[in-house]
Formats: sequence, C-alpha cells, structure tokens
Amino acid sequence: MNTLLLGNTKEDIKTAAKFLKNGGVVAMPTETVYGLAADALNGDAVKKIFLAKRRPMDNPLIVHISEIEDIKRFNLVSDFPQKAKMLAEHFWPGPLTIIMNKSDIIPDEVSAGLSTVAIRLPSHEVARNLIKESGTVLAAPSANRSGSPSPTTAQHVLNDLSGDIEAVVDGGMCDVGLESTVITLATKTPRLLRPGLVTVEEIEAVIGKIDVDHAVLFKLKSDEKVASPGMKYKHYAPKAKVVLLNGESDKFISFVNDEYAKDSTVGVICYDEDVQSINAKAIPIGKADDLETQAHLLFYALRQVDELDSFTTVYAHCPIKTGVGMALYNRLIRAASFEVIDLE
Ligand code: TXA
Ligand code: MG
Repeated sequence: MNTLLLGNTKEDIKTAAKFLKNGGVVAMPTETVYGLAADALNGDAVKKIFLAKRRPMDNPLIVHISEIEDIKRFNLVSDFPQKAKMLAEHFWPGPLTIIMNKSDIIPDEVSAGLSTVAIRLPSHEVARNLIKESGTVLAAPSANRSGSPSPTTAQHVLNDLSGDIEAVVDGGMCDVGLESTVITLATKTPRLLRPGLVTVEEIEAVIGKIDVDHAVLFKLKSDEKVASPGMKYKHYAPKAKVVLLNGESDKFISFVNDEYAKDSTVGVICYDEDVQSINAKAIPIGKADDLETQAHLLFYALRQVDELDSFTTVYAHCPIKTGVGMALYNRLIRAASFEVIDLE
C-alpha cells in the first residue's frame, strides 16, 4: 500500500474522511500524540489498526468524538455517570480519556472484550474536523508500531507505519507530547489508569478523591491482574538501553561524564541548563522546572536517541512523581525497564 502524506486543508480532511468512511485507517494529529484512526463502529476497519501497529488484540482502543453530544448521538455508553459528566465538562476538549460502561454498539475489537469503553474528545482542530467529516466516531491508539515511543510528528508516523496505512494527515508537532490521562469511572471509586498532562491533583479538585492504579508507578508482578491492558506491555523504548538517574544535577553531570570517559557510546537526555557541562552527546528536553516542555519533547528525544547515533546506553533524570512529573515518570520508567540508579 502506498501511504499518502496529506496536509490539513479542507480538501485533505475530505480525502482522509473518505478513506475512513470506506473502512480504511488514517493517522491523524491530536494535541497529545498522533493517533491511528478507523471507524470505531466498524469492527473490520478497527481490526486493520491492530494489524498495522502489530498491536496485541487484547489491548482496547480509545473512541474519539468531536463533541460531548456524540456520546448520546451514537449511543456509546450504557450509562454516563455524574462524575464523568463533571470531568467531561471541565476537561474536554482536551487530553483526558474517560472509561465508562459500554453499549452494545461498541464492537469487541474496540473494547477487546471488556464491558467498558474509553472515550476522548481531543482539542486539536484537525482531529475534530476529521471526526466530524467522517460522520462517525474514531477508534485511535497512538500511531506508532507497538512498543516504540508514541509519534509526535507526521514523519515519526511514516517512519513506523509507511506502507501499512492509507494516509497520514500532517498537523505539525503535537503540543502536549504525551498520551492523554486515562481514568475509569466504571469502578466504585474513580481510578487513574494512565497519568498525563491532566494531573491527579486537577482531577481531584473537580470530583474529589480518586485512586491511582498500582501499575502507574510500580512494575507489575508477573501474576498481577491489570486494569488497563496497555500497562503490561513493554513501551516507549528506543533501541539503546535507557537508565534513569535519581539525584541533583551536579551529581547527574559528574556521573554521566565519568561513564562517558569510560565508554564513548553513552548518550544523555538532560535539562537545558546542563547541556554545556555534559561531555557526551546530550539531548535537551527543557528546563529542570518546566515539566510541560519536558512532556512535549520526551518522545521526540527518545526517537532522536535512535536517529542521531548508535548509543548503547542513554541516561536520563528520574522525574518527580507528582503533577505532570507523574506522567513523565510513568513513561520514562517503562522506557528504562524500571532501571533506576540512586545517586543520593
Ligand atoms: O492521547 C491519547 O490517548 C492517544 C491519542 C491518539 O488520543 N491515544 C492513545 O491510545 O494513547 P493508546 O491505545 O496508545 O492507549 C490507550 C490506553 C491503553 O493503555 C489501553 O489499554 C487503555 O488506554 N484502555 C483503552 N480502553 C480501555 C478500557 N476499556 N479499559 C481499560 N483500559 C483501556
Ligand atoms: Mg500507545
């Protein structure tokens, strides 16, 4: 298949929507990361997403809508709890995914056999226009090959999936850079399944106390049951080995310089202010206190690791576990297969 690279004019969106109406798969920009979209109400179309990504079939997909009313219009859920409404009104459109009990209209391919469905209303204009133009709602996981970092540019989608999908709609680089926060309201107490730019603290300010699933911050034991199937798979990893370092910048700098002196294939992902002091090739991802910029650039940096050089090991700061830091930690700790060296 020849993958078409589209811009984001009205004509381009019409072309992309036509592919979707005909049961094809198209990558689209969202404010978080690029998504690989198909008609969520067409099980055969949704299957093609799993094939293109080589995604395990037991990992459910998020359904993307273009306005809150789509939930009723397409009859997506069996009930829309009050707290879900409060979250939707407060954070949509934006990087929050809400899991609710599904209706029969949701194909098994989307929910991977679960009784729930994940729903998100993205804020990216291009995504919303494409959903509207397609006349349906769109199932879309991140548009990467399963296991690699989520794509934040159209080029990154092509690097992974060129030849396997109908088209990519180019909407520039994604603002947020990390996937949406995922929360389930299908449990008695709302439970965070994946942290993102919308933080636990912000959610609790709207609906009160929530639980944070164990797998958000800790490694799953081999026999542990997962609330969100995506959490059990290896994720976000470049080819080089990633190791996190826990400690202040001065200790970080001297540790990586010592390692580089012993082995010149060592690379570093670091804060802007430390680049000058690091002898190894260093990829900056923002100032130490600017977590949003770090989120914006993290996946881009992880992909650069493979593109720039044949690094063997790449060191990065171990993020704090609160606020947006929780999302950075959750992604980096998986990229590092939970390997952290304590420098303090
Ligand atoms: O920002 C995002 O959420 C991006 C953009 C494209 O919208 N999408 C995305 O999708 O990250 P994906 O498939 O890569 O991640 C969705 C996560 C997975 O970990 C999946 O297991 C979980 O959400 N999930 C989806 N439906 C679920 C459900 N019904 N119950 C539990 N977890 C669910
Ligand atoms: Mg993904």
